[in-house]
Parts: sequence; C-alpha cells; structure tokens
Amino acid sequence: MKHPKAPIADPFPEPRDRIERLVLTGFMGSGKTTVGRLLAAQLGWRFVDLDEEIESFAGRTVAEIFAEDREDAFRRLETTALQSMLHGVALVVALGGGAVLSASNRKLLAMSSGTLTVFLRASSSTLYARCLRQSADPQAAIRPLMGNSEAFAERLARREDLYREVADLLIDTSNQTPEESAESVFRAVRSTL
Ligand code: S3P
Repeated sequence: MKHPKAPIADPFPEPRDRIERLVLTGFMGSGKTTVGRLLAAQLGWRFVDLDEEIESFAGRTVAEIFAEDREDAFRRLETTALQSMLHGVALVVALGGGAVLSASNRKLLAMSSGTLTVFLRASSSTLYARCLRQSADPQAAIRPLMGNSEAFAERLARREDLYREVADLLIDTSNQTPEESAESVFRAVRSTL
C-alpha cells in the first residue's frame, strides 16, 4: 500500500515510493489526454486514455454507452478499466473526468503503490472554453455530460474536492499550454523515477 496522501504542496512523502505510473485526473478540458501523451513521450512510457480503453473493450463510443446503457454502466466499465491499468508499469494514464466519482476508484488510486496521481486544474470558464473549442472538431469525442456553462460549472464544483482528495500533485494549467503542463509534471516527478 502506498503512503497516506500528503498535503498537495508536498506531494512526495518520505520515504518516497518509486513511481511506476502517472495517473492524470481533472475535469473535462483539463488536458489529461493531451498532456498525458506529451508526458509519456517525454518519459518514454506508454500512454493510455481510459475512455479509449473502455471504447475498445465495449466496441462502442462513450457517448453510445451513455445513450444506450446509461451512466452507471459506463462507470462500471470505468472501474474495471482502471483496475487493470493500475497493474501497468512505465505508464501514463488519463482518466475520464468523472472517474473520481466512484469511491472504489478513489480507493484503488489511494492503495496503488507506485502510482502518482496528478490533478490538472483550471477554472470552469477556461475548461468550458477548451471543451467548446474541441467540440468544433468533428473528430472529437462527444462529451455527454458537458451541458451548458452553468451546468458545467456546477458539476465541476461538486467534483473539485474529489480531485483534490485523490491527488498527490496539483498543477494549475489555467495559463499553461499542454507542453508547459507536461513540463511542470515532468519537473515535479523526475527525481522519483
Ligand atoms: C466524463 C468525462 C469524459 C468521459 C465521459 C464522462 C465526466 O472524459 O469519461 O464523457 O463525467 O466528466 P473527459 O474528461 O476526458 O472528457
């Protein structure tokens, strides 16, 4: 089992666990996938996007799973996918924005030795603007829970403490490019790799 969570300002309790995988968490639009790919490339590690993992297992998109089976079914698939990812080494995992809703998922992250969980945070308006920009791309994944800006902000407010609860490290991405966020994470973790 890993050490109990330290305050975010001091992400590395002594003695340090050797970090074998990084898990990126945060709300929709926080850059988990983009930053995760950059970070994995920089580390020479494999990158896994949990939503894509679920889609290839289910043979359907996230939006289809939500529409056909509802959110609960998606959340169950998410827990199974997370469980299996936490066995991987030299791995960067981007969670879906709602993965922290499940107490089981939060416990899995807390108990997983060798896992460092990074919360990529930004304000609701920044996140919403990013999601709107992304949704203009016809290739982009549809986000069934995006909603309008008010619903988006309320959902984020309900989750903010959960992201903080699971995080070993918090990076404020509001004024950062994805490259800068990846560099911030890299600098914070490199001495433990
Ligand atoms: C969700 C976020 C999505 C995806 C699903 C549910 C959420 O992932 O898992 O649509 O509950 O916030 P992203 O955070 O990558 O958009």
